[in-house]
Amino acid sequence: MDYIVMMPAAGSGQRMGAGYNKLFLMLGNKPILIHTLEVFEKDPACKGVFLAVKQEEQSEIQAVLDQYKIAKVSRFVNGGSERQYSVAACIESYDGDDIVLVHDAARPFIHQAVITELVRTAAKYGAAIAGVQAKDTMKLAPLGVVEETVDRETLWIIQTPQAFQIKVLRKASNQAKSDSFLGTDESMLVERLGYPVRIVESTYDNVKMTTQEDIVFGEILLERQRKSKLK
Ligand code: CTP
Ligand code: MG
Repeated sequence: MDYIVMMPAAGSGQRMGAGYNKLFLMLGNKPILIHTLEVFEKDPACKGVFLAVKQEEQSEIQAVLDQYKIAKVSRFVNGGSERQYSVAACIESYDGDDIVLVHDAARPFIHQAVITELVRTAAKYGAAIAGVQAKDTMKLAPLGVVEETVDRETLWIIQTPQAFQIKVLRKASNQAKSDSFLGTDESMLVERLGYPVRIVESTYDNVKMTTQEDIVFGEILLERQRKSKLK
C-alpha cells in the first residue's frame, strides 16, 4: 500500500554536541540523513518524502541529496522551533489522502518489514506506532523514591515511524495547535482525542542517533549489515 513520509530534519543536534545539525554527521561513508532516506528510496510503496528543514540548511541538504542521488524528496518544508511544529508544517503543506508515515531523520536503522506493517495497520485502524518492549525492570518513581514496580509486559518504548490516516493526523495536529499543546510524538496528539493507537512491534536497533554513544552503536550496526550482505 502506498504512503508518503513526513520527515522532521530541522533540529540542531544539541545533545550530539557536534556544533552543527547531527544529520550531516557521517555514519560509515554516508551522512545519517542519507542512510535514513535510502530506506524510503528503496521502497516502491513510498510515493515521496516531505522533508522539514531549517531554511538556512536547505541548499546544503539539496547538495547532499544530489551527491547521493536521492530522488524521493518531493518537497522541502520550513521546519519550526520544536519537532512537533516541523511535522505540523509538513501536514499543512499536504493536500492528498495517502497514509502518512512520520519518521525522524535521525533513525537510520528502521526495518522495511516494520514500515510495511505500520502502513497496513494505519490504513485499517487509523493510527499505528512503532515500539519495543522494555528490557529492564521498570519502576514508577516521580519523586526519586519508588512508588511501584510496573509490570514490564505492559510497557512499550515508542519510536518512529508513526503512521496515520491523514484525516486523523490532521485533526490531531489542528487540535494541538488550537490548545497550544506540545507533545513528544504525534501519537500523543492523536491519543488526546480519544482515538485508539495500535503498537506495531519494531526492533531494538531502530535507535535515534542522539548522543555520541549512538554513533558508536550505529557504526557496529552498519558493520553487521555489511557482513550480512557479503554472506
Ligand atoms: N527536529 C525538527 N525540528 C525541530 C527539532 C527536531 O525537525 N525543531 C527533528 C530532528 O532533526 C530529528 C528529529 O526531529 O530528525 C528528532 O529530534 P531529536 O533527535 O531531538 O534531534 P535534535 O532536536 O536535532 O537534537 P537535540 O534535541 O539533541 O538538539
Ligand atoms: Mg530535539
